[in-house]
Amino acid sequence: MATAQQPSLDERRSAAAERLRAYGQQHLLHFWDRLNDAARSGLLDEIDALPLEMLQRAFADRSADAKQDAHGILPVTPVVMDQVDSERFVREGSAVIAANRVAAFTVAGGQGTRLGSDSPKGTFPATPILRKSLFEVFAESIGAARARWSARIPWLIMTSPLNHAETGRFFAAHDWFGLGAGSVHLIMQGTLPSLDWHGRVLLASEGAIALNPDGHGGALRALDQGGWLDRLAREGIDTLSYFQVDNPLCKPIDALFIGLHHAHPESSAEVSSKVVAKASAAEKVGVFCQRGGSRFVMEYSDMPREMTELCDADGALLHRAGSIAVHVFGVPFLQRLVREGHGLPLHRARKKVPCIDPETGVHTVPTEPNAIKMESFIFDTVPAAQRALVAQTTRVEEFAPIKNAVGDDSPATSNALQTERAARWLEACGVQVARDAATGRCLAEIELSPRTALDAAALAKCTSLPAQVGAGERLTL
Ligand code: UTP
Repeated sequence: MATAQQPSLDERRSAAAERLRAYGQQHLLHFWDRLNDAARSGLLDEIDALPLEMLQRAFADRSADAKQDAHGILPVTPVVMDQVDSERFVREGSAVIAANRVAAFTVAGGQGTRLGSDSPKGTFPATPILRKSLFEVFAESIGAARARWSARIPWLIMTSPLNHAETGRFFAAHDWFGLGAGSVHLIMQGTLPSLDWHGRVLLASEGAIALNPDGHGGALRALDQGGWLDRLAREGIDTLSYFQVDNPLCKPIDALFIGLHHAHPESSAEVSSKVVAKASAAEKVGVFCQRGGSRFVMEYSDMPREMTELCDADGALLHRAGSIAVHVFGVPFLQRLVREGHGLPLHRARKKVPCIDPETGVHTVPTEPNAIKMESFIFDTVPAAQRALVAQTTRVEEFAPIKNAVGDDSPATSNALQTERAARWLEACGVQVARDAATGRCLAEIELSPRTALDAAALAKCTSLPAQVGAGERLTL
């Protein structure tokens, strides 16, 4: 029942209608008369939470996603990870990990629309033989890192309101993969509405706005608003090891990378990022560039074609430092960004968003892009760093993304890459692996658990290695 302090539904509706009118969004209340009170209240909550001013500004400002002007943009020369004094930097990184200064952070709030599964992407069966989920692979890796360095290594996972509950149920059903529920934290990110081509907010149904997660850049706000940055700092954690949920080959805790972040002269220990040499001009990854001494990532869709295809004197792509979306962030750096009010720019992506017609209420599931999704990107923090280290790693060691259901970056290509890395590690330990004589392709299927080995050196200590792996064999270790 309404009290003096709590406005009635009608009063709330009037206030919302006035606010919506000021921004040309009054259609959101078009189906009011058809809704029951619970639906009305839910819709008003969504409307009250809409950052209308910011959306209007972001919609009008196309600079964040316009094709960039190539003038004055230089390539970045990364630190090549297998050419540094690895003993020294692994020692530095190991000391940081063992001192309980590191937390793992996975961004898993995306919708995974290209993969086409309705479940959270982290639950996707990703490994070639045992079909372990992405979450299980990372859990094994983090568990093995905890054991190796006798460290706490809490695991923070960013979810969105769209997949939070299901992600929680998945972990609970798997008993948190043995990590202990108290050491795995699901942190919910915010949402933004999808817009039509005229900037009007789309309705998912008569009583609900079409909301999408606000991008991996939403991590900054989610970590801040949940009090996580301060909590980490209080617990002595100054290093956040960031990775995406869709890359089963990534190393959630990499002592060499953490060591470079803390001790390499090119680093300010604010943000460090991993890259691989782009496979081709057309590969759809963001590229690290620099302008006026400041480093930044240019999204593939924002890079002018002539810049994408530029080559150096050796015929290699000039702008080839392809981001694999693995970073180490200094917690004090993220706290500084929040303190100084660094808002990350909103980028616009053309997407297919199921919605209803704002006049007729007819529901459509589009087959062509019909909407703009607004998202912020975590790599837009990079230019704010005093110095941003860019470290080049080997593609087959760390990058096997699962983005699409078929074709490039699909489960099939990822499985082949996971097998290939396992084959290489076994070969480095003296195991003979059957390969196609013409193409060099591994002819067996191999799955290595991070529990067995976090790297090739650790695998060498494994006592149950076979002498050889034959063609057609399926080996799990
Ligand atoms: P992608 O950009 O590949 O998007 O996310 P996606 O949502 O997973 O997949 P599509 O584009 O709908 O097919 C890269 C990483 O960022 C996370 C994803 O979960 C993934 O780990 N992400 C993305 C978030 O955590 N939140 C977001 O709002 C967007």
